[in-house]
Amino acid sequence: MNSFSSQLIAFSQNFNQRLPELFTLPIGAEKRVVEAMFYSLSNGGKRLRPYLVTETASLFGISSEQSFITAVALECLHTYSLIHDDLPSMDNDDLRRGKPTCHKQFDEATAILAGDGLLTYAFELLSGNRNPFNAEIKCQLCNLLADAAGAFTGMVAGQTVDLWAQNINNYQDPEYVVKHIEEMKTGRLLRFACEAGAVLGQADENKRNALISYSRKIGIAFQIVDDILDVEGTPELMGKTIGKDALQGKLTFVSLYGLKQAKLIARNLIEEAVNALQIFGSLATNLQELAYFILNRQN
Ligand code: IPE
Ligand code: IPE
Ligand code: MG
Ligand code: MG
Ligand code: MG
Repeated sequence: MNSFSSQLIAFSQNFNQRLPELFTLPIGAEKRVVEAMFYSLSNGGKRLRPYLVTETASLFGISSEQSFITAVALECLHTYSLIHDDLPSMDNDDLRRGKPTCHKQFDEATAILAGDGLLTYAFELLSGNRNPFNAEIKCQLCNLLADAAGAFTGMVAGQTVDLWAQNINNYQDPEYVVKHIEEMKTGRLLRFACEAGAVLGQADENKRNALISYSRKIGIAFQIVDDILDVEGTPELMGKTIGKDALQGKLTFVSLYGLKQAKLIARNLIEEAVNALQIFGSLATNLQELAYFILNRQN
């Protein structure tokens, strides 16, 4: 294991240890939904998005303690997107993060509510007293996350196009459609992760734009690699079912270009992402290593 992978594991162990303090179980029957939320949230996961929040904020001298709540909020939102993505009416998956999906472990209605609960809790965390920033910064974070996760140009928009774009032949410009899907369904939350660091650190425009540029490149590359791993990965390492994209006729970079070309596109994007961080000099080494990790990951 290289030193970056060990660093990411150390980060996630520390992150995971602190999660229970934010999930006190209610005593009534409503306990079930919080159990389901925590089951999916605490259940594995690489924690790349919280890592990105922490690392980009640290470029501006913000400590991991200060950025922790923002990092958790984003992981809650991401986990909600996974719970709903796995539902029978969406990708219909049984395995997530190496365990039964939320609707398999609990039931479908509870999984829908657990997703709703995590989505809502993300904004409670960002706007509440546990987040140690001023009202202006909290408001900017809420606005940015709502936009990134939402139905107009965000994750929900991307998931919608993903579900309906199942036949390449229906499109005059499938390349545009697939890029649009991947940018929205995956790229926007990764962009939030990096932009949040800039907001917390009140970065100047040049630095914020450099982070946005980096995040857009890794965002698409991340989903291309996910699509490649759906063909080449193993369920043991991935912790989720593979081969589903082809089975469900999904429009992906792999279905459009084939594996070889998709790998080349991902590699080029990662090189561009690494270059976008030049403005930060050696402070950005971890973020550059993360970009290569995204390219070479097995899970
Ligand atoms: C999976 O994201 C969903 C996609 C956007 C492809 P991750 O691969 O980051 O999943 P976890 O958080 O590590 O489980
Ligand atoms: C989902 O993309 C991205 C989300 C917004 C959750 P996929 O459907 O390819 O993600 P996996 O492969 O199930 O993790
Ligand atoms: Mg999906
Ligand atoms: Mg899926
Ligand atoms: Mg996938």
